[in-house]
Amino acid sequence: MSDRPTLLVTGAAGCIGAWVIAKLCASGRPVVAFDRSDDRRRLHLVMSEAAATAVPWARGDIADAEAVAAAVAEHRVGGVIHLAALQIPFCKADPIGGAKVNVVGQVAVFEAARRHGLERVVYASSVAALPADPREAHPATLYGVYKWADEGIARVYWQEANIPSIGIRPHSVYGPGRDQGLTSAPTKAMVAAVLGQGYTIPFTGPLAFQYVGEVAEAFIAAAGCDPAGAFVHDLKGEVTTVEGVVAAIRRAVPGATIAAEGPHLPLPGDFDDSALRRLVGPWPQTTLDDGVARSVSAFRDLVARGLVTSAA
Ligand SMILES: NC(=O)c1ccc[n+]([C@@H]2O[C@H](COP(=O)([O-])OP(=O)(O)OC[C@H]3O[C@@H](n4cnc5c(N)ncnc54)[C@H](O)[C@@H]3O)[C@@H](O)[C@H]2O)c1
Repeated sequence: MSDRPTLLVTGAAGCIGAWVIAKLCASGRPVVAFDRSDDRRRLHLVMSEAAATAVPWARGDIADAEAVAAAVAEHRVGGVIHLAALQIPFCKADPIGGAKVNVVGQVAVFEAARRHGLERVVYASSVAALPADPREAHPATLYGVYKWADEGIARVYWQEANIPSIGIRPHSVYGPGRDQGLTSAPTKAMVAAVLGQGYTIPFTGPLAFQYVGEVAEAFIAAAGCDPAGAFVHDLKGEVTTVEGVVAAIRRAVPGATIAAEGPHLPLPGDFDDSALRRLVGPWPQTTLDDGVARSVSAFRDLVARGLVTSAA
């Protein structure tokens, strides 16, 4: 039994959430998952079925402040890693739903933190909260505007309620479990390569490519430090190009028929995560070739076990 306070992980059924849960459980940290879905499919990709089944699970809507506060009270939660969100294509398809999940959900998490005196809130913002072109003042997508609002919400809760927070801005996360969202295409290309199928990533140009295992470590490191303020920092991973990712997949799977064509992403492409590392301490870094090799190796195993069957 750990004497450390329980961490509430919202969006736990998602890609980064599954990895955060798996790593926290492996380290013996008490957790409770919060998600509107209780589908543990992505957890099964990264932890044993028995361990995934044992994770305490609060099913609820992140925009329902009472449901979030009830989960915090019931499970004696001390801190939150807030990852629940709708990604770019889902916000575009359903702007009202996107605003509820991505903006009201952030307020619900901070309200629960205020009501129950949580030590800190760690949350996922996104590089989409930054203008794609530094000469512009605003983010290019509704999703980005929602994430930008989230950063402001965190700042106000520090100023008015003294709730410390760390926001992390990932760019393009890849690896097992990354099966939805605009920038999931490179991971789908890896699965296609393992299955011996062709795949064309529908965008090109610069991106910061971030192995999901490293991203989860960064969130966990942030949840372990005591920020005196409302901080928000970029995540770097490996700054490369989609073409560089295609070459890395071909190195991991010689003969793979993977390509990339289309426009650049509406996101900035160059990052520095030294400020985040200074704030939360070091976490293990993963190079492009190492992360792609690990992902390909995991997908080979998952395909063999029937847990991944298609790149779609
Ligand atoms: N994956 C990336 O490349 C990336 C990049 C930048 C930022 N982010 C941010 O990181 C976080 C996690 O991303 P991910 O890739 O794991 O996303 P994901 O889409 O895989 O998972 C999101 C999870 O949120 C849950 N969710 C959605 N609506 C909900 C609601 N109303 N109530 C409760 N749960 C709800 C979903 O069921 C899902 O399990 C998100 O905030 C995302 O915006 C991700």
